[in-house]
Amino acid sequence: MSLADKDRIFTNVYGFQDWGLKAAQARGDWDDTKKLMEVGQDAIIDEIKASGLRGRGGAGFPTGMKWSFMPKESKDGRPSFLVINADESEPGSCKDREIIRHDPHKLVEGALIAGFAMRARAAYIYIRGEYIREAETLFAAVEQAYDAGLLGKNAAGSGYDFDVYVHRGAGAYICGEETAMIESLEGKKGQPRLKPPFPAGAGLYGCPTTVNNVESIAVVPTILRRGAAWFSSFGRENNKGTKLFQISGHVNKPCVVEEAMSITFEELIEKHCGGIRGGWDNLLAVIPGGSSVPLVPGEQIRNAFMDFDGLKELGSGLGTAGVIVMDKSTDVVRAISRLSYFYKHESCGQCTPCREGTGWMWRVMKRLETGDAEIEEIDMLQQVTKQVEGHTICALGDAAAWPIQGLIRHFRPEIERRINERAGAMQEAAE
Ligand SMILES: Cc1cc2nc3c(=O)[nH]c(=O)nc-3n(C[C@H](O)[C@H](O)[C@H](O)COP(=O)(O)O)c2cc1C
Ligand code: SF4
Repeated sequence: MSLADKDRIFTNVYGFQDWGLKAAQARGDWDDTKKLMEVGQDAIIDEIKASGLRGRGGAGFPTGMKWSFMPKESKDGRPSFLVINADESEPGSCKDREIIRHDPHKLVEGALIAGFAMRARAAYIYIRGEYIREAETLFAAVEQAYDAGLLGKNAAGSGYDFDVYVHRGAGAYICGEETAMIESLEGKKGQPRLKPPFPAGAGLYGCPTTVNNVESIAVVPTILRRGAAWFSSFGRENNKGTKLFQISGHVNKPCVVEEAMSITFEELIEKHCGGIRGGWDNLLAVIPGGSSVPLVPGEQIRNAFMDFDGLKELGSGLGTAGVIVMDKSTDVVRAISRLSYFYKHESCGQCTPCREGTGWMWRVMKRLETGDAEIEEIDMLQQVTKQVEGHTICALGDAAAWPIQGLIRHFRPEIERRINERAGAMQEAAE
């Protein structure tokens, strides 16, 4: 089921070739873009729907359907906008970075075509503040496209006027949430908005807006060139296409690699990462979708399909496909505790369950690391995660709750062992 070189979309993901316009054109980018647009907006949306592409930013919402929510014509003169999410701040995720620094023209061309399809006037690419060199490359790629007449008035000779703006964030994870991103673009504090209204109705500057991930947009030109049937020939039903996996942690060769969706975990690791450090018996657990999803014990994930449904069946998720591998040398309680600290730090503080809950959960996790807790506190912690999950304005609350729930689900005996051992040691010291 794995992907042949000829079917890779990102042919310069390792930067072996130049990222610039000429080299990108030699790789097939910007090849008669006008022709791709000539079929018309609705036909492009239909093709993306038929390809089965689901958003690559984490939630997996069908991309073509999302575009179809945008108004076909403006009844009140408001323009529409495309916002491209290049915030990529989720621990474990590092794919959009490779696209931007090595294959940026795939994204810029994708911005034009996607923007045209949803009848947007312009695209804003919001890139995380820490991506300094990547932002430089992106600014330069956009400039190259303008100089070549591929953007701006009559973009790529299509008769459509389209602008692309690159906006640098200041380094806050929460600005990756789509409505926080819109607020930040407007120059305000990056705090999520209550929905409804949804961005397709009132988004950036109060105008219809679609927010899409970098990878979701960058694959669009290739899907149109090679056809929806080609893209949907990879992966299982409902989980179509190719996908950039980012494998970090205790494998022999961590890497970012494009593979067919639904490849099994074992094949992914054996084929591209040189196996698990110390062999398969040394695998403890895997966080398969970036830090927000629950971990899966090693023995359960080995034969799992790496796709939306396969990982959901295991009580986890594909997320961004930022696969964090942990071998038996990992202090798994400390690992999850560290993630709790991240969410506490990144909470924007707007809603009480998240603002108070993330700090509370982190403080308990800190004590569980050393066993300095009562057994009953494990259930109490679980209940608190349930009070945070689903009770907040944005999904950061869920993202803080799920890793802890995964830990309790799969490693409760380890947590209890630490508490009992510490209690025993305290008792011995007292005698
Ligand atoms: C706290 C938080 C952080 C997020 N960070 C990102 C991010 O860095 N990049 C991204 O594409 N989506 C991120 N998302 C998801 C976006 O809100 C949005 O769903 C996504 O950009 C939609 O793109 P897609 O439909 O192409 O997947 C984040 C969501 C939350 C709740
Ligand atoms: S869930 Fe957390 S990050 Fe999201 S809006 Fe509420 S306080 Fe802010």
